[in-house]
Amino acid sequence: MPHPTPSPREIFASGPLTGHVAVPGDKSISHRALMFSALAVGESRVEGLLEGEDVLATAAALRAMGAQIERGADGIWRINGVGVGGLLQPQGALEMGNSGTSTRLLMGLVASHAITAAFTGDASLTKRPMGRVIEPLSRMGAEFTAYPGGRLPLILRGINPAVPIDYTLPVASAQVKSAVLLAGLNTPGITRVIEPIATRDHSERMLRGFGATVTVEDDAAGKIIAITGEAELRPQRIVVPGDPSSAAFLVVAATIVPGSDIVVENVGLNPTRAGIFTALRMMGADITELNPREVGGEPVADLRVRHAHLRAIEVPAELAPSMIDEYPILFVAAAFAEGRTVARGAHELRVKESDRIAAMAAALGACGVRTEEYEDGLCVQGNGGGAIAGGGTVRTHLDHRIAMSMAIAALNARASITLDDASPIATSYPVFFQSLDLLRGETLVPAA
Ligand code: S3P
Repeated sequence: MPHPTPSPREIFASGPLTGHVAVPGDKSISHRALMFSALAVGESRVEGLLEGEDVLATAAALRAMGAQIERGADGIWRINGVGVGGLLQPQGALEMGNSGTSTRLLMGLVASHAITAAFTGDASLTKRPMGRVIEPLSRMGAEFTAYPGGRLPLILRGINPAVPIDYTLPVASAQVKSAVLLAGLNTPGITRVIEPIATRDHSERMLRGFGATVTVEDDAAGKIIAITGEAELRPQRIVVPGDPSSAAFLVVAATIVPGSDIVVENVGLNPTRAGIFTALRMMGADITELNPREVGGEPVADLRVRHAHLRAIEVPAELAPSMIDEYPILFVAAAFAEGRTVARGAHELRVKESDRIAAMAAALGACGVRTEEYEDGLCVQGNGGGAIAGGGTVRTHLDHRIAMSMAIAALNARASITLDDASPIATSYPVFFQSLDLLRGETLVPAA
C-alpha cells in the first residue's frame, strides 16, 4: 500500500472545461458503510463505494478480523458481517497505508473486543497523532503500546466488557468522535461524546440506519451524542453519495478556468461537509444546485459551475469543521481572487496527511503565488483572475489533496506544474485525471 516509487506528473494549462462528470463515492461514508456492515449479522450491499486505497485498507482490515467482503461484477459490494462483539483476532498487522480514518475508527472498534491488533501505516500516517484516540479508548479500558509521541506503529489490546465513558472532544474531530462511538457499540451501557463544535455526522446518521440506538441532543456544552451499547446492527442496502471533498477540486477548476461551464453530478451536500461551497460562493463563485434529492439518507445535488471572478475573503473560522479537507483547494481558488484571502482557526491542517499549511505555502510559492503562513492558517495573495506563473515542482508529501489542488492550479498557469508524486491521489480519487480529461475535452490550450 505505501508507494515506494514516486510517480511524478506534469500538468499543463487547459482551455475551458465543459460537460458533465460524476465524482466517486464519499470516502467517509464508504469507510463507515464497510465497518458497520462488517458488524451487522447477514448480508449488506453497498453501491457506489469509493474504491480508493484508503477504503480498500479498511476492507482488508475487516476481512482480517473475520468479515466477508466481496465486490460483485456489478460493482456492488456484498458484506457478511460478524455481529457486534464478533471481530476475530487478526493474524498479522493491520496495514493502514495512508488512511487516518481507517486507523482511528478501527482502533475504536477493536478497543471493545477482547483481541489484540497491531496497526501500521505509510510515512505520512506514522507521523500523525494517535494520542487523541488512545486517550479516550484507554479510559474505556483498552491498552496501547505506541511508538513514541503516540504514533503508529502501535499495538492495541482491546477489552470486553469495556467501560462506557462520557467524553468531551478536546479537538473538533469526527474521527475521534467516531472512534469513541464505535467502541461504545460493544460496551454495555451508554457511551456519550460531547461535541463542542459540530463535525461530520455520518457515523451518527448511519449507525441509526443500521438500527443502533443513537441520540443527539443540543446542550449549552454542544451536541451530546449517546450510543447504547451491546447494540445489534441489521444489514442494510446503502447507496454512497458522491464525495463533496472530491467534487471541490472540479468546482474550483471550472471557477478558475475562463469560459468553463460544467456539471458535477451526485455531490453529497451534508451541511457538516459543505462549507467549501459556502466559502466559494462568498468569494463570488457561480455554483447552482440542480436536482436536489436524497441519496443514502444524505442530501445530494448536481452542481452547475461556471467560471467566475473571485474576490478575497476572510474565511469564517466557524466553517473550518465543515471544510477541513478543502483548505488546500480553497487556497488555490484564493490565488486567482482579487485581494488577500485570510484563513485562520484551522490549526488541524498541521496534522493531516501532511502539514497542509506549510505544504500549500511551499507549493503555491513554487508557482509564483505569495502567501503568508500563520500557526493556524494561511494568507494568500490573489492575482485578480489571470494565469498564475506556474513552472514549479510541487512537493506533495504523500498527501492526495496537495497533489490534486496543485493539479487544478496548473490548469490556469503560464508554465506547467510538476507534481513530484501523483500516486497518493489514488487514496481518495483514483479516477481524478480521467475526470479532468473528460472536462478538458481533447484540446489542450496553453493559458495566455
Ligand atoms: C474524517 C474526518 C476528518 C477528515 C478526514 C475524514 C472522517 O478528520 O479530515 O478526511 O471520515 O471522520 P478529523 O477527524 O481528524 O478532523
